[in-house]
Amino acid sequence: MRKWWMTRNGYQIYPRSFFDSNNDGIGDIKGITLKLDYLKELGIDLIWICPFYDSPMDDNGYDVRNFFDVAKEFGTLDDFKELLKKAKTLDIKIILDFVLNHTSDEHPWFIESRSSINNDKRDYYIWEEGKLVNDKLMPPTNWGSFFSGSAWNYDQQTNMFYMKIFSNKMPDLNWKNKEVRNEMINVGKWWLDLGVDGFRIDAVSHLDRAPFIDSTKSNEIVLDWNKFSNLPKVHTYLKELNEKLFSKYDALTIGEVGGAASIKSGLKYSAFDRFELSMVFNFDHNWCNNLNDITDYKDLKTDVLSLKRVFNNWQTAFTDKGWLPLNWLNHDQPRLMSHYGDLAFFKESAKMLATALYLMRGTPFIYQGEEIGMTNYHFTKFSEFNDVSSINHYHSLDKDLSEKEKLRIVAKSSRDHARTGIQWENSEFAGFSKVKPKVLINSNYKDINVLDNISDESSIWHHYKKILELRKNSEYQEVLVFGKYKQLKLKDPNLYIYERESNDKKILVINSFSKDVYEYKVTYKVKNILLKNYEDILIKNNIIKLRPYESVVLEVFK
Ligand code: GLC
Ligand code: CA
Repeated sequence: MRKWWMTRNGYQIYPRSFFDSNNDGIGDIKGITLKLDYLKELGIDLIWICPFYDSPMDDNGYDVRNFFDVAKEFGTLDDFKELLKKAKTLDIKIILDFVLNHTSDEHPWFIESRSSINNDKRDYYIWEEGKLVNDKLMPPTNWGSFFSGSAWNYDQQTNMFYMKIFSNKMPDLNWKNKEVRNEMINVGKWWLDLGVDGFRIDAVSHLDRAPFIDSTKSNEIVLDWNKFSNLPKVHTYLKELNEKLFSKYDALTIGEVGGAASIKSGLKYSAFDRFELSMVFNFDHNWCNNLNDITDYKDLKTDVLSLKRVFNNWQTAFTDKGWLPLNWLNHDQPRLMSHYGDLAFFKESAKMLATALYLMRGTPFIYQGEEIGMTNYHFTKFSEFNDVSSINHYHSLDKDLSEKEKLRIVAKSSRDHARTGIQWENSEFAGFSKVKPKVLINSNYKDINVLDNISDESSIWHHYKKILELRKNSEYQEVLVFGKYKQLKLKDPNLYIYERESNDKKILVINSFSKDVYEYKVTYKVKNILLKNYEDILIKNNIIKLRPYESVVLEVFK
């Protein structure tokens, strides 16, 4: 099956930290419009924009107060219409973040729902009685939330608990309720009618919940996401959404499937014959290193074999059956270069990582700033954190830990690394804004910025551009976008090598994940060198000498 999104090159924008057009220190919608030419130049023709809906910003917009309006700090609905118009003239498709699992507690539905147990909208959310344990009122179950603490919050107006698997200000919607489903269908319809091309669907795997029985994982509050992830009714709801909404518009839909969705469940969501979603963002490839076990980033090591296994498993399982997005990390995760890159071989490893990922079968989604190799932020004080989950995490830590230790722990997994302002140029505030930004700016903008990248032909940015061009090249698109994927040397702990093959072409993508030198024998006759990350390539008698993080893309004779 062929769909319009398969040949597109995607890019994810987190509006708050993308570009500030009106100099109030916060990125905004006009800022995106102003940078569309930039994105087009890079080779992007599909954008996913994170939420900019009206919101009290407890979770930077994932807590929606009004689905039909734009948050003032991001601009106006007219600004968005302008953005859409300009995007259309540049043939850039736009998809929005569709937040189905919850609303803000300031959404009118919730204000009504919490007001009394007889309210019409009471059943829009999930309300339960607490449990009395030793005369103390406890949440209905011991389920923990993704953002620390309980997945339930007590509400004194009716002396009951509401479910909230994220922050206290993000009550979960009750998808069992048909009216809720219809409301959300209307929301989707409204944006599709306005002209958007589809949605990234937030937290989609959580719409169905297990019966409210304690998790046996612990006696205490425990994050047991199986209680609200990838359960059967999600699929019923998605089929309904697909039938009544997505299919009517040929909309692109990419579900965020957290809760450790397996490949099998990934296929349930997005196989061509399931009529649910177009693709899913899974997280299996995001944790293929020892981040959880180390205290110092200098000990970080990529587990190349597990990364290769994950890629192989997803790529092969989806052959003929479905389609995948190709993304490294996103706004909830560390920066790619700090996670899987090698700062000592900065350009080489950045380019290699791009080649390794974006020439697989699927649709690329570059996370903003990745194209210039942006890195994690160096946190020096608690007040620098903005992300609600980082703040909750900090407060949940043992009070006896030193300030320095708490900072280190929170910084390790903080989502704020990915949310620093884009480093546009080597000028004050990195060219993100003309005033002191309300988002963090990484001090390395003097060395890492867009302007310098564009003017240097050998930059990471130009390498990204070349990859995106290759995927658009009329001669190679068929093989690089639709061709078969086959991984070679499955057991090699340093080299990630795969073939792409179509009826008449064969491409070999060779990547070294090591800072040591390796040799690799190409078993085909080389026809063309399509891409490299060193100035030359060292090949003799078909043996390639691979330098640190070298990556080479060859067209070979079949
Ligand atoms: C998704 C988003 C994340 C948000 C959460 C709740 O995981 O990517 O940023 O906090 O959903 O909406
Ligand atoms: Ca602004």
